Amino acid sequence: APIQVKKICCIGAGYVGGPTCAVIALKCPHIQVTIVDLNQQRIDAWNSDELPIYEPGLDEVVKAARGKNLFFSTDVDKGIEEADLIFVSVNTPTKKSGIGAGFAADLKFLQLATRRIAEVAKSSKIVVEKSTVPCRTADAMRTILEANSKPGCSFDILSNPEFLAEGTAIEDLFAPDRVLIGSLQTQQGKDACEALTQVYANWVPRERILTVGLWSSELSKLAANAMLAQRISSVNALSAICEATGANIDEVAYAVGKDTRMGSKFLKASVGFGGSCFQKDILNLVYLSESLHLPEVAKYWRAVVEMNEYQKSRFANKVVDTLFNTITGKKIAILGWAFKKDTGDTRESPAITLANHFLNEKARINIYDPQVSKDQIWLDLTDYGDIPAEPIKPHVTISQSVEEACHNAEAIVVCTEWDEFKKLDWQKIYDNCPRPAFVFDGRLILDRKALTNIGFKVTTIGTGDRL
Ligand code: UDX
Ligand code: UDX
Ligand code: ADP
Repeated sequence: APIQVKKICCIGAGYVGGPTCAVIALKCPHIQVTIVDLNQQRIDAWNSDELPIYEPGLDEVVKAARGKNLFFSTDVDKGIEEADLIFVSVNTPTKKSGIGAGFAADLKFLQLATRRIAEVAKSSKIVVEKSTVPCRTADAMRTILEANSKPGCSFDILSNPEFLAEGTAIEDLFAPDRVLIGSLQTQQGKDACEALTQVYANWVPRERILTVGLWSSELSKLAANAMLAQRISSVNALSAICEATGANIDEVAYAVGKDTRMGSKFLKASVGFGGSCFQKDILNLVYLSESLHLPEVAKYWRAVVEMNEYQKSRFANKVVDTLFNTITGKKIAILGWAFKKDTGDTRESPAITLANHFLNEKARINIYDPQVSKDQIWLDLTDYGDIPAEPIKPHVTISQSVEEACHNAEAIVVCTEWDEFKKLDWQKIYDNCPRPAFVFDGRLILDRKALTNIGFKVTTIGTGDRL
């Protein structure tokens, strides 16, 4: 029979583990939730007033549960020992070297965490894979656990991929479209699945909790992200056609999205998608397809990422072209550094690609983002220390406001759709720019007519030169 989960441990206090388990704690006051991480600084931040990640609504959730049934700690072993159920929510970046470099997921953090569970556990546990991982990872985790467990300890592995999107994580967790749980189809596997189902059933309607086999669960996560990203690449490919013909991508996307078979979401053209998931998951799918000797399938999905790269470089080239084919020495304001609004996360942000492009062209860039720290921007510009900072330092300024970033800029490039960029005093900005003053809207959020009336030369993704 399924056990009653009383204590949960979450290994990994990042963008996924933190918000997810904070919400579980809030919604399940009878369950003790401990989130552990090796990173002391991160845990200290979770225990302070300045949480390590920016996410609307997160502060309130953490404040309501922390110290009652929600705890943050670096004592990984204690967390493991006490728990009946353990979420593994560590990072799984794309491998940088070795077999599958550039495609396959690097599972070293996951394996280390799994080994730790096997070594430390003194009683049976349900181990839940929450990080996005390639298919059959649960199987690998099971092998590691079984090979290293103590007598009398058994482990059940579940796959429970997280579908929250950053910027709306709390909303998504409060009212998920679905919760997906994969398990082995044995009685023991089904019991473990039911134990986790009961946790979610505290606030998620039962019919939204889907229970499937382990591999279906793992593949569904990759599939969902690949298909969402595919929609964006499709609309971005169409945006290039719009620019060449005078059609308007917002009008096209609206008309297409009205088809109930299609739906309106994820059809917004942009400078390209970013974030820690889309590219990584598609590349995982590509790698998986190759390993399964399905090269045509691999090629199909790879094209989604290639289109995204094309969109970013197409936009960057457009900036250079429009500024009379050279931006050497020119000041370019970059508005927005995060990969989308309402997050401070910059992983795979298109703004990074654009900045590198502009720096290669010897421009001077001035960056503003309301949520990303100066340190983080420098980590991104230097690829976490792989690129020397000294040579680019004279060309980079990081500003505290839009006005400061745009002062004297020959081009203003909107990279993130932050709400504050929609209500700027453009006349004032225009008064402080040399002529001609160029604006490039990489997110289709600006009022092109109004800006043109002020005097700006406006370039928007997915619209021709005619208004
Ligand atoms: C299509 C468009 O749906 C319609 O809006 C347009 O006006 C004309 O083209 P049609 O070709 O008549 O309509 O049928 P549709 O239902 O779209 O099916 C097209 C093909 O896709 C069929 O062979 C169908 O079997 C196949 N299909 C459809 C699938 O294989 N899977 C699906 O999920 C849906
Ligand atoms: C995504 C999935 O949405 C989520 O379900 C999964 O759990 C993790 O990956 P996330 O990356 O946090 O979430 O944000 P998302 O809203 O999907 O945006 C990803 C990127 O696509 C962003 O750069 C966003 O700006 C871009 N995007 C999104 C578009 O360019 N156009 C759109 O219409 C939607
Ligand atoms: P995600 O977006 O998937 O949540 P993050 O990088 O934000 O990824 O978070 C993953 C967290 O997992 C990091 O804070 C990292 O320190 C932590 N972590 C990685 N390996 C381990 C481990 N073996 N034990 C505990 N924490 C770990």
